[in-house]
Amino acid sequence: MEVIIRPDKASATELVAKLISNALIEKPDLVLGLATGNTMEPLYARLAEMHKKERLDFSLCRTFNLDEYVGLPAENKNSYRHYMNEHLFKKINIDIRNTHLPSGTAKDLDKECEKYEHKIKKCDGIDLQLLGIGKSGHIGFNEPLSAFFSRTRVKALTPTTITQNSPLFDRPRDMPKRAITMGVGTILEAKRIVTLVLGTSKSDILAKSVEGPVTSMVSATALQLHPKCVVISDEKAAAKLKGKDYYKWIFENEPEWEEYR
Ligand code: GLP
Repeated sequence: MEVIIRPDKASATELVAKLISNALIEKPDLVLGLATGNTMEPLYARLAEMHKKERLDFSLCRTFNLDEYVGLPAENKNSYRHYMNEHLFKKINIDIRNTHLPSGTAKDLDKECEKYEHKIKKCDGIDLQLLGIGKSGHIGFNEPLSAFFSRTRVKALTPTTITQNSPLFDRPRDMPKRAITMGVGTILEAKRIVTLVLGTSKSDILAKSVEGPVTSMVSATALQLHPKCVVISDEKAAAKLKGKDYYKWIFENEPEWEEYR
């Protein structure tokens, strides 16, 4: 795992946008794993801008989102399908048929999860998986005690997640209490992982995720096991990291990061 600390939200977001656009230029039919949440909104706005101003081409790109709420149809404005359409897909030249999210309204949810795994395999797996970290330490909706070998399945959401996400609903009590999520095992199979973590409210969970012991109590600690995972944060989220100076030195000195400095 590598940790990159940028001075603020804008520069951390810009770095992630550049990593994604470079990966897409290198492989136009990139299989991109996508995440939702507040953290991703400015990133998707920036990718849309890169499409408009720099002609970043998504025409062959294929996407798989991490998760979807159980019970919310695509038209519901709190569904992650709606979020993705509004924040990204409508603003770029992606073929909507190449964008995938699990359906939270499938009659047979277990079968839907199996089908989702199968679709990812048919595309030869995810090339680059974008992640955020929830306050409960979740990646996707893999709440504490999710098995590190878990696959796409239905998970009950924790009170921490319900508290974090329910204000986004007009009536907070309408927030579904279950979601379909890629498993930790599914996520760890991505060829490369880019995690974006921003703001003071994430400083405790970021420190636990990156420097704490690997434990299924904090799903994000599983990322320490991935051979090609970078965590990009701003100074505020990085405030509680013990190895801050070392991580900064790596960014300044590793040739891999030269073009991003
Ligand atoms: C949701 C998503 C996660 C995301 C998290 C963080 O719970 N399922 O994939 O990482 O939100 O959200 P935010 O960026 O709003 O803090």
